[in-house]
Amino acid sequence: MSAGNLFSSFTLGALTLPSRIAMAPMTRCRATNPAIAPTPMMVEYYGLRADAGLIISEGVPVSPQARGYAFTPGLYSAEQVAGWQAVTHEVRKQGGRIFAQLWHCGRISHGSLRDDNAPPVGPSAIAANGKSMALDRATGQAALTQCEAPRALSTAEVKGVVGEFVQAAKNAVAAGFDGVEIHGANGYLLDQFRCPYLNDRKDAYGGSLENRCRLHLEIAREVAAAIGKERVGIRLSPHGQANDMKPDPEPMKTYGYLAEELQKLGLVYLHLYDQSTSWIHDPDDALLRLIRGKFTNALMLCGGFTGRKAEAALAAGSGDLVAIGKPFISNPDLVSRLRQGVELSPWDSKTFYLGGHSGYLDYPTFTV
Ligand SMILES: Cc1cc2nc3c(=O)[nH]c(=O)nc-3n(C[C@H](O)[C@H](O)[C@H](O)COP(=O)(O)O)c2cc1C
Repeated sequence: MSAGNLFSSFTLGALTLPSRIAMAPMTRCRATNPAIAPTPMMVEYYGLRADAGLIISEGVPVSPQARGYAFTPGLYSAEQVAGWQAVTHEVRKQGGRIFAQLWHCGRISHGSLRDDNAPPVGPSAIAANGKSMALDRATGQAALTQCEAPRALSTAEVKGVVGEFVQAAKNAVAAGFDGVEIHGANGYLLDQFRCPYLNDRKDAYGGSLENRCRLHLEIAREVAAAIGKERVGIRLSPHGQANDMKPDPEPMKTYGYLAEELQKLGLVYLHLYDQSTSWIHDPDDALLRLIRGKFTNALMLCGGFTGRKAEAALAAGSGDLVAIGKPFISNPDLVSRLRQGVELSPWDSKTFYLGGHSGYLDYPTFTV
């Protein structure tokens, strides 16, 4: 793929993106209703950001068991599908495009998030030394709480997880999303299966690299078969350490394999998130080059991008698209601001996950 200017259009499957800038997926925990469905506030929030080349929604749990944080709107009930329909309708009305990020938190979770208090699940019964956003049912408040120990999924249950992703993808299409991004990053369920330190399974989903990546590839294959490969992307976070992960001991082998197999499945994009905001900005980085060589559909880069850094990455041919996160929180019309060179507003991390309207709908849009 040729390098392009940040504000040039890009063909992504059946979509024409008007710029190379995507809004990165960002959990905002604003679905504070019993159905855990998108709200009118969320309709407004996403509609205001429709000038992104592509919006990727916040992580959307594919089932009750997939939940890891309070107030994160799912895609497994009729009320949730209806809520998302209002969101996608507004984004489209404002001229935008939106993918849903399909999410299973695995062991980064807490029983309080489920009606039956079911504990988290994972590849193995190895607890995370980390926190999830648990729910205090007595007060209805969320609080960062130590993750509970998971139980290991049975082989049949792993197949069930694949089915949950497929159903959520179909629900996403029914809700009017343009496509889905499979969340394979950041220490959540798929990443947990990949990790040789966390996965001690003896079945077809543990042991060899092929087995540890089987869940990614089965989900990718079956979701693509259900809704069309031109509507399916996936996110990975090579070298990531968030959520109590250790860096992969053989990143070239692991991510080279995944990139090659995901390309064979023909997914429309591969989204790479560099949590350290370092190697993704180096066009000579060996892993980035390896992945770029093996995954030849659209490559999306994320992690600490400014307009200038995004232009540099595209000019160097490191990727085709750039996803930007935090600046989109405090600058709803980020793409217009970057295009016009308007100064960006700072974000307030205290209201990332809490605060209702505050820090969510009170960042002004720049008007000329
Ligand atoms: C408030 C917040 C919520 C996030 N939620 C998600 C999420 O749901 N799924 C995901 O893959 N990444 C999530 N991320 C990571 C972002 O997608 C992005 O990779 C990160 O912010 C780095 O990009 P930036 O430097 O442009 O902000 C989140 C980040 C923030 C700040």
